[in-house]
Amino acid sequence: MQIRPGNPEFLDLPWEHPISEWVHSRIVDMPTGVHRHPVRFVAYEEGIYAIKEMPVFLSRREYTVLVALEERTHRAAEPAGLVLRGWLDPHDESSGAVVTRYVEHSFPYRRLVSGTGFGARRSQMLDALAGLLVELHMSGCYWGDCSLSNVLYRFDAGGIEAIMIDGETSELHPSLSRGQRMQDLEIMKENLAGEMADIAAMNDEEIFEADLGLGEDIAGRYEALWAELTSELVIARDEGYKIRERIAKINELGFAVDDIEIEPTDSGGVVRMVTHVGGRTYNSDRLIELTGIEASENQARLLLSDLNYHLAKYGDTTATAKSVGTFKWLTNVYEPLVKEIAAIWHGDDPIQGYCDFLNHRMALATAQKADVPNDQAFQSWIAEGFPGFSPEEAPVAPSA
Ligand SMILES: Nc1ncnc2c1ncn2[C@@H]1O[C@H](COP(=O)(O)OP(=O)(O)O)[C@@H](O)[C@H]1O
Ligand SMILES: [Mg+2]
Repeated sequence: MQIRPGNPEFLDLPWEHPISEWVHSRIVDMPTGVHRHPVRFVAYEEGIYAIKEMPVFLSRREYTVLVALEERTHRAAEPAGLVLRGWLDPHDESSGAVVTRYVEHSFPYRRLVSGTGFGARRSQMLDALAGLLVELHMSGCYWGDCSLSNVLYRFDAGGIEAIMIDGETSELHPSLSRGQRMQDLEIMKENLAGEMADIAAMNDEEIFEADLGLGEDIAGRYEALWAELTSELVIARDEGYKIRERIAKINELGFAVDDIEIEPTDSGGVVRMVTHVGGRTYNSDRLIELTGIEASENQARLLLSDLNYHLAKYGDTTATAKSVGTFKWLTNVYEPLVKEIAAIWHGDDPIQGYCDFLNHRMALATAQKADVPNDQAFQSWIAEGFPGFSPEEAPVAPSA
């Protein structure tokens, strides 16, 4: 048995028997989607866990992918342990098991679709599913089995968060080719069409009444989001503000900009910009790693955009230039301003003040369609009485 730290040891469970035979005080019933392997749920002080039994090679694969994915996204089931029943043939259906943390307050998409349907939130629900696939693909994860039973959803501050479970067919790569991504979408579309036909049959509906185009609809949303996140931007050298606008757009979609590549084009006065997009909960981690600044997720997103903007604008895009550039931004831009804000501003969190200022600078540049130097933007921010940027208005990323 392999257990991840922070979880119980699960030693009191009757592992000598297949989980379907378990009669145990820790067993609890939870809603599930349609599934092929036996799944049971157990309650501990640490929380509820899902146990899925399957042959060793599948268990290992799922566990390995989920562990590695944890580094890249928080939108997949959290692995807690791997159990191998060494006394059984490794091809035996119950020779292995994966334990994951139960995703609280969540339900499989399948339950919603077979019950009341998506209702008014259809568009939001489908965007969440498309967004999950985009995020997994950005993380180099080929799923291989996206379906209505394998995606859970939960409501999160007005938004919907989609979460991946069931990674037994998944593969992690440094990055995915277009072919791999398209194949994953094909599998999703096939799965969904099959499930919708199934649901129609269960509800005694004719097949033409089933929403067989659901997968296509999601694939379309996926393509639009992917294009939005990855398209190249070609700008003139004095149009630096467009870099910031683009970063803001990507951030608004809930994604962080990891990296920007700038290359001169043949025509000299024009540069091409390629953005590398990261996960949706990594902003604060990354900010600490790069600068030591501890900020909330939304503040961190803004600060990183500001940093990336400075790096891109001053051409600090190689690794060494970047660390020097980061230090320059920290000592010449960020720290002096935050110090000044702390002295003159009414609020109690100078970092929030800095974010308010960034928001103001952005509004000025967008209105003037030109870069506004920091000093000028700062004076304007003071003169206008520190126009706010209440945290509620900030783009909110669904929490992990
Ligand atoms: N970590 C989890 N949190 C909540 N529900 C889970 C979790 N893991 C599994 N489930 C539920 O159990 C069902 C079956 O799990 P899944 O991994 O999809 O098994 P299978 O490979 O048999 O399809 C899912 O549809 C889901 O409802
Ligand atoms: Mg499944």
